Amino acid sequence: MTAAPVPSAVVELARSASRVAVLTGAGMSAESGIATFRDAQTGLWSSFDPADLASPDGWARDMDLVWGWYRWRAELVRRSEPNAGHRALTEWQNKIHLDIATQNVDDLHERAGSSVISHVHGSLFDPRCSECGVHSQPDAEPVDENVDRVVPPSCPECGGPMRPGAVWFGEPLPQDHWLAAVHAVENAELVLVVGTSGVVFPFAGLPAMARSTGARVVEINPVETEISDMADHRWRTTAAIGLPALVGSL
Ligand code: APR
Repeated sequence: MTAAPVPSAVVELARSASRVAVLTGAGMSAESGIATFRDAQTGLWSSFDPADLASPDGWARDMDLVWGWYRWRAELVRRSEPNAGHRALTEWQNKIHLDIATQNVDDLHERAGSSVISHVHGSLFDPRCSECGVHSQPDAEPVDENVDRVVPPSCPECGGPMRPGAVWFGEPLPQDHWLAAVHAVENAELVLVVGTSGVVFPFAGLPAMARSTGARVVEINPVETEISDMADHRWRTTAAIGLPALVGSL
């Protein structure tokens, strides 16, 4: 995709907004080389359905497999870099009040220098004990790409198996993160929705909430999504092309 001019209506909205909320999904990190959740999984993981692995049932069935998958994903993120879209948001955040709420479990916003008010689906880098809930960082071990099952480390407090820090299908969201995302949307004049298919609720309901509280909504996504209808403007571009162009035009 080639650089496209920023639609003038989008520039105007961005110039006049003093509070912006940016809602990001997997597409935000796609140009950093991290496959979106609904893309086919590669290599060792191609025969697994991510929705099966990211679930309490998946964990109950085979916790070594689930831990191995998350460890592999964390390693993929460690080897990746924030893209120009992440960096553009940091530049913008240095100028105005801009809240970032993400569904992504990676840390690429933070590594680009942004502060993130809400990781609604948790983080790859915040495991906790599946029994007593204590958060702890296991020692880093080299990741063998040919190994799928890895025994989860033991909790330093109670000895129970550590579980990934991501929110699984069927689990409640961390309330503090969810409320922070709602607060950001309710107080924004402009909400940018970047790189999400809009199929997972309640996050997918935030653009509608933004509209109902009077914010204008702009979608940045190369394709039509389930929530495109909620947007005042649909900009068919990518995160790493559109966001630097937008911030550069302000
Ligand atoms: N720039 C912007 N958007 C992109 C790009 C890009 N470079 N590449 C892909 N996209 C868009 C796709 O068109 C798609 O609409 O990103 C979206 C990614 O959709 P999903 O893979 O469904 O990711 P997401 O919406 O974040 O998924 C929501 O579901 O799987 C669970 O918990 C997981 O947080 C995740 C949630």
